Amino acid sequence: MTSLTTPPRVPIPANGVDYRGKVVLAPMVRSGELPSRLTALKYGADLVWGPETIDRSLIGASRRVNPRNGTIEYTRLPSNGGRTEAAQQESIIYRLDPVREKGKLIFQLGTASPELAVQAAKMVAGDVAGIDVNSGCPKPFSTSGGMGAALLRTPDKLVSILEALVQEVGNPFQIGISVKIRILETPEITGALVSRLVKTGITGLTVHCRTPPMRPRERALREQVRMIASICHDAGVACVINGDVTSRDQALALMEEFGVDGAMIATAAESNPSCFRSQADGGLLPFRDVVHSYMKFCIESENRAGNTKYLLNNMIPGKNKEFKDAKISKSYADFCHVLRFDDLLPGAHQLDEILKLTAKSVFKDEIHSKAIRTAIENNETARAASGAPRPKSTSPTTSGVGPIRTSSIPSPSKSKPAETEANVDISASASQPAQKQEVAA
Ligand SMILES: Cc1cc2nc3c(=O)[nH]c(=O)nc-3n(C[C@H](O)[C@H](O)[C@H](O)COP(=O)(O)O)c2cc1C
Repeated sequence: MTSLTTPPRVPIPANGVDYRGKVVLAPMVRSGELPSRLTALKYGADLVWGPETIDRSLIGASRRVNPRNGTIEYTRLPSNGGRTEAAQQESIIYRLDPVREKGKLIFQLGTASPELAVQAAKMVAGDVAGIDVNSGCPKPFSTSGGMGAALLRTPDKLVSILEALVQEVGNPFQIGISVKIRILETPEITGALVSRLVKTGITGLTVHCRTPPMRPRERALREQVRMIASICHDAGVACVINGDVTSRDQALALMEEFGVDGAMIATAAESNPSCFRSQADGGLLPFRDVVHSYMKFCIESENRAGNTKYLLNNMIPGKNKEFKDAKISKSYADFCHVLRFDDLLPGAHQLDEILKLTAKSVFKDEIHSKAIRTAIENNETARAASGAPRPKSTSPTTSGVGPIRTSSIPSPSKSKPAETEANVDISASASQPAQKQEVAA
């Protein structure tokens, strides 16, 4: 029996993580890929949610370790719409960093079926600290399949999904199961739903403080938050607030004001992930600093260039020249050139080779001339310093095959001999198509 003085607490499993006291990165399709998560972690996010991944897209995928950077990639062959003549190239469904995201990554599942949810969750359960169920996405692609916000109207189904995940994935893998919901039209309806959800064995519940029909730009509503937090606390479940949280300091103030345990940031982190830094630590950084960190993580992670460009468009203020140049860039060398990140150019060239983007570069002539100028200047400086005679020729070489990551970066797990370079299709990430999921809101 629980004593009056000790509030109940759903135990946090051994490989799981407690959401209490945490300021976290929200799940975001497109905007929550690995480099975005690593940037958020660098600037102080306590936990990161990955983008919603639909159960069926994960089921049947293969897991492999990328030998160049040690990331774990879940890949699958596209169906090709029944066509067999087109070359089948694997697409990467999900990519995570087992070292830098260890104990901090929550995998979010889009599902409308306990069986499929369990099947999909089992595939990633050993690599993540928790599984979250998306029960808030109001977009038709999600709700028409009974997923996302549709689950708010089918509480029996949502409860059965969460119970199945707790018993068949959370318990055996010792990770937490959680859910992300939106508020409903009245406190009574929301309260009735939350009262059922907190009895399923979940460790955390995130509430996006908007109703399903509300647009992202509409102000988040806080009236129901205390009530939701109180129901969660009575059941020992951590409650995380989401919606119009824009900085770490504001997050902490909201936690205090509304009695919630954690806070989740989406759009503010999408445009400037340094929002996770408190004012005491210097607060928001200028966009160039943040974009440099982000680009470094993109190169290390071998991120899809189209996704990188999408995020750059969010992070670079629209009036800047870099914004327009980044929009027409086609390769990593282009990105680094227009942003004047010369220190990242060697890695960018290597990644362009891997992703087969070198020929697509729109700034290749400028980059080449600059490389020649730099090489000549370096040689002249070195020659002048040493007093050596002028060499017969200079080499503008800026690329070459070698590890993209530097010594500070984890190397692939040596304990997995089966996952050797020979097993890995290097071209796979080159052709990774955009994840066919629209932006959930
Ligand atoms: C680009 C984008 C993608 C999103 N994808 C997801 C998602 O995959 N799963 C989810 O539960 N919510 C998703 N959302 C909603 C956010 O997680 C969050 O609930 C919402 O943006 C409100 O937080 P904010 O006011 O801080 O932006 C997405 C939002 C954006 C802007």
